[in-house]
Amino acid sequence: MAEVSRYLLSVSETLRVHAPGRVNLIGEHTDYTGGLVFPMAINRGITLSYTAADGVVELTSDGVPGVLSISLPFDSAPNAVEPHWGSYIAAMAAELRATQGLRGHVLSDIPAGAGLSSSAALECAIGLALGFDGTPLELSQAAQRAEHRATGVPTGIMDQLSIAAGVAGHATLIDCHGLSVTPHAVPRDIDVVVRFIAHRTLEGSGYGDRVAECKRAEDEIGPLRLATLDDVERISEDIIRRRARHVVNENQRVHDFAAALGIGDYVEAGRLITEGHASLRDDFDVSTARMDAAVDGIVATPGVFGARMTGGGFGGCIVAICQPGALADGWIVSPSAGARRID
Ligand code: GLA
Repeated sequence: MAEVSRYLLSVSETLRVHAPGRVNLIGEHTDYTGGLVFPMAINRGITLSYTAADGVVELTSDGVPGVLSISLPFDSAPNAVEPHWGSYIAAMAAELRATQGLRGHVLSDIPAGAGLSSSAALECAIGLALGFDGTPLELSQAAQRAEHRATGVPTGIMDQLSIAAGVAGHATLIDCHGLSVTPHAVPRDIDVVVRFIAHRTLEGSGYGDRVAECKRAEDEIGPLRLATLDDVERISEDIIRRRARHVVNENQRVHDFAAALGIGDYVEAGRLITEGHASLRDDFDVSTARMDAAVDGIVATPGVFGARMTGGGFGGCIVAICQPGALADGWIVSPSAGARRID
């Protein structure tokens, strides 16, 4: 009996959590003004296998050499942590004031810096592994704060909430003001295809400037989520007016896209996606020449309904909707469940 107890004490159970990446179908650069977004959690993501450990987090990753090792509670600057991906882990541990740690391994099939929210997936996965016990919304809010701690970039809630609250078979219409999440079935007779164009990081990009520019627009005409195009025309400075015009038009496009998808009008849904890209390129200035060329090429392919850059921009991925099999290059992604403990 004594031997059995000793044996049980020495064996620590291996546990697993999984957090998907996300692709945003439409509704870009609207979340931080409380607007509408329409992302879906995808069948690529991060799986973390681990055993419990006292007072430390020690992790290896299949993608990057080196061992992340931090002591708990963690209260230093997360962005000094090496390897770099560990800064998201450290920030989440700090956010949760975790003291019970873990040892484990991170397996990922989302490329970092691709605009598919690998960092948000990592934050949600480690949050669950560190014992977070709350609603998907609360998990996403803790993960968003961790992202801010780790990067200093004032990102919105879309990535973390779409990952925490993902629903298999569905995209999620998120109202970033009320923080409501409404699942919409993704039709099975279209492909959603993601094509990776270029690595990027939002740190040091124009992302923070865009947030500030939207704030300036709101100082002039009030909340952009409530503004009309007539309100936008009153903005005196050209750049600020264009930023606001993108946001107001994009919120409307999210509504229209969800409706078009719901009635199977893929031509209209695709048109809205492509129009959204033009707005991100011309009014919001977050696309790149390579992404524009890739979108143009894909849109000209037979069977494609529409394409656009997805995520924060300045590189990353483009997303297209098309007839099944119309696009040979890229990943056909399917809508998946949100972050969860598995086994
Ligand atoms: C990044 C941010 C999100 C959102 C998008 C742009 O992914 O993390 O909060 O602002 O850019 O839509």
